[in-house]
Amino acid sequence: MPGLAAERVLLVGLGESGEFGDNTYRDALRAAANALKELGAADATLAIADLKVARRTLAWNVHQAVGVFREAYYRFDRLKTQKKAPAHRLAAVTLAVTSGAVPAAAEHALKEAVATADGVELARTLGNLPPNICTPAYLADEAKKLAREFKLQIEILEQRDMEKLGMGALLAVTRGSRLPPKLIVLRYSGGAKKQKPIVYVGKGITFDTGGISLKPAGEMDEMKYDMSGAGSVLGAMRALAGMRAPVNAIGLIPTCENMPGGNATRPGDVVTTLSGQTVEILNTDAEGRLILCDALTYAERFEPEVVIDIATLTGACVIALGHVASGLFANDQKLADEIKAAADEACDKVWQMPLWEDYQEQLRSNFADMANIGGRPAGSVTAACYLARFTRSMRWAHLDIAGTAWKSGREKGSTGRPVALLTRFALRHVGRKA
Ligand code: BES
Ligand code: MN
Ligand code: ZN
Repeated sequence: MPGLAAERVLLVGLGESGEFGDNTYRDALRAAANALKELGAADATLAIADLKVARRTLAWNVHQAVGVFREAYYRFDRLKTQKKAPAHRLAAVTLAVTSGAVPAAAEHALKEAVATADGVELARTLGNLPPNICTPAYLADEAKKLAREFKLQIEILEQRDMEKLGMGALLAVTRGSRLPPKLIVLRYSGGAKKQKPIVYVGKGITFDTGGISLKPAGEMDEMKYDMSGAGSVLGAMRALAGMRAPVNAIGLIPTCENMPGGNATRPGDVVTTLSGQTVEILNTDAEGRLILCDALTYAERFEPEVVIDIATLTGACVIALGHVASGLFANDQKLADEIKAAADEACDKVWQMPLWEDYQEQLRSNFADMANIGGRPAGSVTAACYLARFTRSMRWAHLDIAGTAWKSGREKGSTGRPVALLTRFALRHVGRKA
């Protein structure tokens, strides 16, 4: 390589040229990032960012390069007393474009990608924080910090507000906990005044013991991630505000703990939701849908363009789709298609599941308008069907992220999904190309 000014050259295999696509491009980026980390490189020029990836633009390539690098370099060591020496600091990465001038879209993608990565990191860190630190009050404080930093409007509803409104389902979940619940309303207005907002609703259970329907002990620590939906909403709000996206978005976060205790809800209790419908709580471990149904009813008052809820809702979704795709449910096919397109662009996969009325009968109750569980068959579908009963007046989609929000085992940790998807969705919705 005559005339090369670089001290070292890192060669990255790209595989068969005929098979070069999204996954191989991202794998190559990840391999490069991990090798640079291993070397402790302080700066690097990346010469693979302008390779042609089938169906993709240079702007997309740039976006992915930033995303994959930031993901690889993420660390969560604030709770370790012995921090590894920061030999791994990469101060600058240059993305080389060899053919002609850099299109404005690619420059713009850089800004969007950095803001998106900031949002993903926020969601990851909130997920990784332990449940004795990341409490409902902590999430509310994080939202306040975002509001201050990015000039967002914020309102926090307290327990007495929920009581006044009649949020009987949310209140039933928080009963067993010593910590006060919060309902966070965070508003970013980057779009035209008359443009209706996208409302994101995130499940914010900061720890899910199951309540009186107590979970088994094994891996129960992972239920600290049960606020990942909430984290992804804060992450997406941060991303959109950080890039000053021309959209109106509202983040709505019902957050509390699900604990057993003398004051906890019993299996068999019947409560009245904010919508007026009554629910027989047959299993206190199906708590996500209980806090979400009241938040979804509350979302109606914002007259949303669309509502998307994000929740680590069912173990059944992990069985159905594993850790690859989030489950997608929607009462509007156009909205589902938009989300699928955004997921494809963001490499943040979803797979659509049915919401057919046929499943609704599984929620039948002898004592109330509905039960909060539908039995073992199609567990993630009946959970979505439950939510559908509270969103009939709106264009609504539900993302079950139980399998995608975090990793178990040696690599245990939050993934920050689906912040990239939520951010991309909002940008696409107002006509921004990837
Ligand atoms: N937070 C859990 C869902 C979950 C379980 C996510 C395992 C990731 C891994 C949720 O609150 C829950 O407990 N759901 C129950 C519902 C059941 C009682 C109908 C479940 O999936 O077992
Ligand atoms: Mn549960
Ligand atoms: Zn839960």
